Amino acid sequence: MVYESIPRTVRILLLGEPGVGKTSLILSLVTEEFTEHVPPKAEEITIPADVTPEQVPTNIIDVCLAEQTLEQVGEEIERAHVICIVFSVDRQETLNKIASYWLPFVRENCPDDYRKPVILVGNKIDLIDYSVIDNIWDIAEEYPEVDRCIECSAKSLINVSEMFYNAQKAVLHPINPIYSIEEQE
Ligand code: GTP
Repeated sequence: MVYESIPRTVRILLLGEPGVGKTSLILSLVTEEFTEHVPPKAEEITIPADVTPEQVPTNIIDVCLAEQTLEQVGEEIERAHVICIVFSVDRQETLNKIASYWLPFVRENCPDDYRKPVILVGNKIDLIDYSVIDNIWDIAEEYPEVDRCIECSAKSLINVSEMFYNAQKAVLHPINPIYSIEEQE
């Protein structure tokens, strides 16, 4: 097993099916308001250390399959420290694709002996009045790299900063022993 060191910056990548709200989540975090019309892909965002709870500079990277090849997305996975796979809680097929497509795709683009932490993100909870988190435990059991699951809404600004904070924590305070505590230069 290769031990990765704790990085000095955290690189968070958002993946998931088209239309699940990846860009909206990033823009809601940054502007603290929901915009109905967002670009297909957000520019890479750097959050300075002093405004993050963990005091670590954080880069957030959006993915848009309409604008990027799968090879480019694979390269972003290689560069990321943590991957948020977003689904839309009102579209079951976007949740199904997590186990059937996205988690295997992430593994393919990680070294065999080092799995990057993954956060599963159910977005658009403003559209339903029940929780879908119970449908996710089976996936988390099959893929131990799933660090945690969170439900949120880019529209209602529910759990948006918590989602990014959890992603930071998964890198800086890993639950699974996939990191050493050494600091990287
Ligand atoms: P791609 O660029 O195609 O990959 O999509 P994306 O995952 O970046 O989704 P995007 O942010 O473009 O959002 C898709 C649609 O969902 C837009 O119409 C958003 O306004 C809407 N949307 C995003 N988040 C929410 C949410 O929390 N609740 C609701 N009701 N709608 C949302």
